[in-house]
Amino acid sequence: MSALIHAVRADITTLKVDAIVNAANHSLLGGGGVDGAIHRAAGAELLAECRTLGGCATGDAKLTKGYRLPAKLVVHTVGPVWNGGTHGEPELLASCYRRSLEVAAQHGVRSIAFPSISTGVYGYPFEQAASIAVQTVRQMLHELKSIEEVVFCCFSGGDLAVYEKLLASA
Ligand code: AR6
Repeated sequence: MSALIHAVRADITTLKVDAIVNAANHSLLGGGGVDGAIHRAAGAELLAECRTLGGCATGDAKLTKGYRLPAKLVVHTVGPVWNGGTHGEPELLASCYRRSLEVAAQHGVRSIAFPSISTGVYGYPFEQAASIAVQTVRQMLHELKSIEEVVFCCFSGGDLAVYEKLLASA
């Protein structure tokens, strides 16, 4: 059976999935945007666990527990800062989705929700980022058969429309 890939408009901290993905920074010690929201909702124990991880490289991903979140686990990934698109940004962004799914699958995750990595503070153009997200997830799900559901969690109705259009096309 093929995995369900869909988009919703929601605050990712409210989603009851096995894992949510955090768009973090190298330090993994919190920040604004979705990172701030996840740390606030999970509570101080999340920051304590993040302190033990030694940071994270751009394009890589590390896993923690979800603490007070409805999600059991959090996959922290670090997206690229948009710098015109010719500094490896597309490859690094694809790597975030790939590594997040690999780390999640290694820990038995069956359902996972992604925010739109790098499209806030890091300035990645939304439609380009969403296209990479959908393409990379579709590719990875051919390999990672244990993942049953991937949710693209959008913060605005406009963002949701972009994902729905991409998901409707083969
Ligand atoms: N639920 C779902 N999506 C959200 C939420 C939420 N609660 N809050 C924001 N978004 P950003 P980045 C969307 O800036 O660009 C942090 O300070 C938002 O609309 O959170 O990867 C980190 O510590 C946007 O589409 O992440 C880093 O320093 C998307 O999430 C830096 O920001 C990503 O926006 C990372 O920047």
